[in-house]
Amino acid sequence: METKEKTVLSGVKPTGEPHIGNYFGAMKQFVDLQEKYDESLFFIADYHALNTLHNADEMKQNIFEVALDYLAIGLDPKKVTIFKQSDIPQHAELAVIFNTITTMPYLMRAHAFKDAEAKNKEISVGTFDYPMLMAADILMYDTDAVPVGQDQKQHIEIARDTAEKFNRTFSDEFKLPEPLILKEVAVVPGTDGQKMSKSYNNTIPLFAEDTEIEKAVMSIVTDSKSPEEKKNPEEDNIFALHKLFSSIEELEGIEKRYKEGGMGYKESKEILIENIKKFISPMRERRKELEKDKDSIIKMLEENGEKMRERAEQKMQSVREKIGVSLK
Ligand code: ADP
Ligand code: TRP
Repeated sequence: METKEKTVLSGVKPTGEPHIGNYFGAMKQFVDLQEKYDESLFFIADYHALNTLHNADEMKQNIFEVALDYLAIGLDPKKVTIFKQSDIPQHAELAVIFNTITTMPYLMRAHAFKDAEAKNKEISVGTFDYPMLMAADILMYDTDAVPVGQDQKQHIEIARDTAEKFNRTFSDEFKLPEPLILKEVAVVPGTDGQKMSKSYNNTIPLFAEDTEIEKAVMSIVTDSKSPEEKKNPEEDNIFALHKLFSSIEELEGIEKRYKEGGMGYKESKEILIENIKKFISPMRERRKELEKDKDSIIKMLEENGEKMRERAEQKMQSVREKIGVSLK
């Protein structure tokens, strides 16, 4: 019999506007999972964002924006605890401890580090150590499941390895978390066909205004087939997005017309625009309403920060005892 409650946890970095790749790859799951788990913890990963964002005003604004995003997509503050990572300094403390049981070559195998290195980017120590802070975020609360996009899978594996290493080196303390990755939307393509990402300028923002949606969809890259020509839907970037926004019947209809010929890319884009508008507008309007009450959102974050800090402190007391720095 399961003795402990099932806990789901995930975090989003406050680095700017979320896009539909973030939503379908990760955030949408949060909303579904809040009903299924005994405890749902969703936080704003501000210390992770600090690796790329060194502007206090922007940071402050972005933190508030993520809280709004969480509520606008449908997270219910009665069912989930939304909090800010930096309100719980114990995360950083635990990351320092994890650093001491982790080797440099091990962290050098992380994709994020290798990508940055391949691009000859200047890598901060914080970026190199990113997976240790993330492991601390996850392991602090005896997390069972972590919903993320495909590109975060390795970070969850690192958290598991770190938990095992600690348990082996000292004694049993940490639960091993499982990643939750939706296979069918593992990678949402952007308007240029690459993975949708803030860094590639190929996004459709999750709370886009209608004109932004039109502009983004019209810019989707296609081949030069005429409307009459037969098309392979699996090779088309517009169709990849239809999969996310159409009903099954509508999708089958579009697929058939692609294969038989007779549907041009312009028409396909127009259908997509309408469906994206229908999907985004209620969330966008809800977000505008929530935005009016900034004070109550800040209060929620403060209260939850306090609650989670107490919980993290309890965990850390046990960790400090296990490593021998606590003299009691
Ligand atoms: P970006 O690449 O735009 O900077 P992040 O790295 O901040 O996005 O990703 C935040 C979350 O959204 C992660 O869980 C990530 O896996 C998911 N995600 C980001 N882009 C996509 C995408 N194109 N398809 C599916 N999931 C994505
Ligand atoms: N690294 C995640 C991202 O880039 C954000 C994150 C930080 C996170 N800590 C986490 C996600 C803990 C899940 C669990 O999207």
